[in-house]
Amino acid sequence: MMAASTALPVISGDVAFVTGAASGFGLALSQELVSRGASVIMVDINEDGCKKAAAEMNEKTGKTVAVAAKVDTACFEDQLAAYEVGKKTFGRVDYFFANAGIGERLWLPPFDPVAASSRPIAKPDMTTLDVNLNGQLNTAALAFQVFERQEPNPRSKFRGKLIITASITGFWACKGVAMYSASKAGIVHFMRSTAGYYADKGITVNLVAPNITATPIFPTDLMALLTDNPCPIELVVEQMISVLGSCKDNGRAITVSGKEVWDYPPHEYMFEENKAAFERMETEYGRQLGLWE
Ligand SMILES: NC(=O)c1ccc[n+]([C@@H]2O[C@H](COP(=O)([O-])OP(=O)(O)OC[C@H]3O[C@@H](n4cnc5c(N)ncnc54)[C@H](O)[C@@H]3O)[C@@H](O)[C@H]2O)c1
Repeated sequence: MMAASTALPVISGDVAFVTGAASGFGLALSQELVSRGASVIMVDINEDGCKKAAAEMNEKTGKTVAVAAKVDTACFEDQLAAYEVGKKTFGRVDYFFANAGIGERLWLPPFDPVAASSRPIAKPDMTTLDVNLNGQLNTAALAFQVFERQEPNPRSKFRGKLIITASITGFWACKGVAMYSASKAGIVHFMRSTAGYYADKGITVNLVAPNITATPIFPTDLMALLTDNPCPIELVVEQMISVLGSCKDNGRAITVSGKEVWDYPPHEYMFEENKAAFERMETEYGRQLGLWE
C-alpha cells in the first residue's frame, strides 16, 4: 500500500472495473483502490485468482467492496456480462481499467529458409493481439457506452474515465516481441485519438506505459535476468490513480521507467505543407461518419 501522504485524487465511493485483476498491476491496483474507499469489479480469465482476491478484501473491510467474474477480455460479451453484475451491486462504474495482457506468443514459425520449403505456409497466431489490443479495445468500447448512458459523477463532474495499461514497447519497438509491440503501439494511438474525441464529453482517456516490472507476466527465469532497474509496482499504480477523481488530465501517455515518470510526447506532424489538408480530411471524415456536424 502507498504512503498515506501521497496527494492523489479523492475516489472514495467511486467504482472501478479492472481487467487482469488477479495478478500483477491489476491486483495491486484493485487493492489500492479499495484502500482508498473505492469499490472494484475484478475481472480475469483466472477465475479463482480474482474471486479469492475479492473475497479477501470483502472479509478485511467487512462489507462488499469487490465483486469478481471470469472474463476473457478478447470476448466483448464476457466483459459486458461482468459489467452488468457489477452495476447491480454498485450502481455505476466511474473508471474502466483496460489492463489485462499477456506476453508474446510466437505468431509465425522462426525464419528458416531450409525448413520452410518442406512445411505449409502457416496461418499466423494472433493471440497476443487478440488479448492485448482487441481485449483492451473491448474494454474501451464498453467504457464509452457506459459513460454515455450515465450522469456525471456528482463529485468529480466526469461521466467516466478510461485508463489503459500500455508499455514502453508502444514507443520503442522490441524486435523479439513484434505482436506485443504492435498491440502496445496501437493502443497508444487509440488513446490519443479517443482522448481528442471525448475531450468535450466529460470523459477522459489516459494511459500508463511501464518499463520492466516484476510481475508474473514474465517467466521466473526471464525475470531473473531483468533485475537491473525494474519499476516499483506501487509507482505504476500511483500513476494509474493520479488521473482519477476530479483530475482533468486527458490524453496523457504517462511513462514509468525504473523510478522515473514522464509524459511521452505525441509524434510531431512531419510535413507542414500538408498539415492544413490533413486537418480538413480529419474534420470531413468525422463529419461523414456522423461523429460531429
Ligand atoms: N510487467 C511488466 O513489465 C509490464 C510492463 C509494461 C506493461 N505491462 C502490461 O501490464 C498489464 C498487466 O500485466 P502484469 O505485468 O500485471 O502481468 P500479470 O501476468 O501479473 O497480470 C496479467 C493478468 O491478466 C490476466 N489475463 C491474461 N489474459 C487475459 C484475458 N484474455 N482475459 C482476462 N484476463 C486475462 C492474467 O490472468 C493475469 O491475471 C499488461 O497489459 C501488460 O502488457 C507489463
